[in-house]
Amino acid sequence: MSTTKGLEGVVATTSSVSSIIDGVLTYHGYNIDDLADYASFEEVIYLLWNHKLPNEQELISFKTELSSAAVVPEAVIEQLRTFPVDKVHPMAMLRTAVSNLALFDEEADEQDEAANYRKAIKLQAQLPTIITAFSRIRRGKEPVKPNENLSFAANFLYMLNGEKPDAISEKAFNKALVLHADHELNASTFTARVCVATLSDMYSGITAAIGALKGPLHGGANERVMAMLTDIGEVDKAEAYIKDALARKVKIMGFGHRVYKNGDPRAKHLKEMSRQLTEITGTNKWYDMSVKIDEIVTSEKGLLPNVDFYSASVYHSLGIEHDIFTPIFAVSRVSGWIAHILEQFENNRLIRPRAEYTGPDHQAWVPLEER
Ligand code: ACO
Repeated sequence: MSTTKGLEGVVATTSSVSSIIDGVLTYHGYNIDDLADYASFEEVIYLLWNHKLPNEQELISFKTELSSAAVVPEAVIEQLRTFPVDKVHPMAMLRTAVSNLALFDEEADEQDEAANYRKAIKLQAQLPTIITAFSRIRRGKEPVKPNENLSFAANFLYMLNGEKPDAISEKAFNKALVLHADHELNASTFTARVCVATLSDMYSGITAAIGALKGPLHGGANERVMAMLTDIGEVDKAEAYIKDALARKVKIMGFGHRVYKNGDPRAKHLKEMSRQLTEITGTNKWYDMSVKIDEIVTSEKGLLPNVDFYSASVYHSLGIEHDIFTPIFAVSRVSGWIAHILEQFENNRLIRPRAEYTGPDHQAWVPLEER
């Protein structure tokens, strides 16, 4: 048996959801650069689940399906109020709340195609409602009900802030959602596929995926990027801070990638958004500091920024609380998780690899009293 640490380079499945080939990311063959510039997040979800872009009528129906499913069972919202809201991380809350959603869905364990589609719509539509309700509850405010007349992106910001976002914020947030929607066999997507390949249900797959996304080596990096920027404080302190961290072999959050060695194609879009939004909001310092860090890490380590690096200053300039950054990643990536879960169900086989044993052999049993 041979092993590859972290399964690097191992091709574990076939998939037609998204691809990373020669550093180019596509969703079902559509280049991420085109989708980032032109697509609404709703069109991208439709593409990932249906393997085609919707026509006008299909898009209208799909948006209606999503917005009609956005209200979360009251019991799930009530339960959020019982959590120690000041101490609980929103990703831990989300993992628990999504698991709770299954308890209020009579179809949770149904496996037929129609039931799975209904669950997909509910999960996609309800994550924003849960996250924004939790954010408001811990700020001492009442949750805001979803607004059916708003786009997916605008509705999230509306439920978070209690007022409709301006066009620039809506556009930026939509683009961020498009850029995070899917990414081939990343750690959380693989987790979701492993989970449902046992023929467990979609809620279990998404709950497991949220747990995987939470970690700082994956989706949890975006919040930690902002923590680092805040810790540095001023642009002129960035160089010394980063050089010292690199000398101590500390990992700089938001840099490096298992697959991309010549740059993450999503990062340039987020960098430009960060430039624009920080300029509009007069918070250029975070963009300038990010660029400075980018230059240092690239020249010192040859590592390039990944999707999480510039998304931190983007979300910060949209006025979003820092610990909501990773839940926002989940709001987008749940579309990809679902696409992969549906694909796994279509042609399922249990995922059960082997481990090369490295422990001792031939151990003689020792009775308890003799140990
Ligand atoms: N800062 C400093 N050094 C780094 C970084 C970093 N961000 N990333 C990798 N390195 C170094 C490693 O220390 C290692 O050096 P060594 O060979 O001297 O030991 C070398 O580069 C190779 O790194 P690995 O950790 O082996 O790379 P791997 O492919 O296993 O990990 C990962 C990729 C997890 C993304 C890594 O680059 C990392 O930890 N980055 C920071 C966290 C982060 O930004 N995560 C988000 C990734 S994107 C996403 O999931 C949405």
